[in-house]
Amino acid sequence: MVVSLKQVLVKAQKGHYAVPAFNINDLEILEAVMRAGKKMRSPVILQTSEGAIEYAGMEYLVAIVEVAAKSRLPVVLHFDHGKNLSLLHKAIDSGYSSVMFDGSLLPYEKNLHETKKVVAWARRRGVSVEAELGAIKGVEDLVSVSAREAILTNPLQAADFVHKTGCDALAVAIGTSHGAYKFRGNPKLDIERLKKIKRTVKIPLVLHGASGVPRDILKMAMKCGAELGDAKGVSDTEIKKAIANGVCKINIDTDLRLAFTAAMRCALKKDKKAIDPRKILGPAMELMTDVAERKMRLCGSVGKA
Ligand code: G3H
Ligand code: 13P
Ligand code: ZN
Repeated sequence: MVVSLKQVLVKAQKGHYAVPAFNINDLEILEAVMRAGKKMRSPVILQTSEGAIEYAGMEYLVAIVEVAAKSRLPVVLHFDHGKNLSLLHKAIDSGYSSVMFDGSLLPYEKNLHETKKVVAWARRRGVSVEAELGAIKGVEDLVSVSAREAILTNPLQAADFVHKTGCDALAVAIGTSHGAYKFRGNPKLDIERLKKIKRTVKIPLVLHGASGVPRDILKMAMKCGAELGDAKGVSDTEIKKAIANGVCKINIDTDLRLAFTAAMRCALKKDKKAIDPRKILGPAMELMTDVAERKMRLCGSVGKA
């Protein structure tokens, strides 16, 4: 059944585990995540970016998720990184059970004001709201304290923001970034900052840019022709530390993309005569299912559905 993000995350917070949230763009990715959720008996968070909506269409995405959610698993349909307010409004009216308003690039007061407006709309429909404070982007070059402070989430400001907006979950910036190239040097998160945020903010926290770029899948992709030499993600150890310090939602897109394309590349390389898309998409789905299962185990969401 479709449930709200708040329902899933409050339970996770109480149980000291996290739930992975997967970006979906098509039927293969959705089905891979659902298969993993059913096998692991884990709650499932499916999220679509504005790019996914542009690619597949909101109606199609909502329709396939509604079919998938006929299972007994709790399924959240979440709008990821919503910046376009009319699209966000449309998502609320179309069956999404959760939306993220991403005002992270706005000045603080404007982010606060806009987030508050979104919370007011969403509340009336029983839809949850995730907000963001701080910027999710690489911080390795930020050597000065002031440069880090300008980018990463400020714990006191986070408390003020959550209190004034009434959002249900908060995405924090502690050194992760989106995509496959997250770190050049030391792949460490700012866990001390996260600890301070956890002390001041009582709602579930969200970690964006949480893909691990698994070595085995990276090697497989490269063996089959990918050029992804310097790709590096967040280690499982850092993810576990983040979960131990208040993170209840772990956002994963890159690792699914990597698995999807690695399996496709290898299927095409192996069978140069292949023209049946199912022979290429089938292995892609299998490898994405494996990745989703790994994330559920890492997050501790196995058996929590
Ligand atoms: O947060 C970013 C997600 O990976 C979605 O990426 O905007 O290319 O769909 P996208
Ligand atoms: P990754 O690029 O690390 O998978 O992060 C995805 C994400 O944060 C989606 O919102
Ligand atoms: Zn993100």
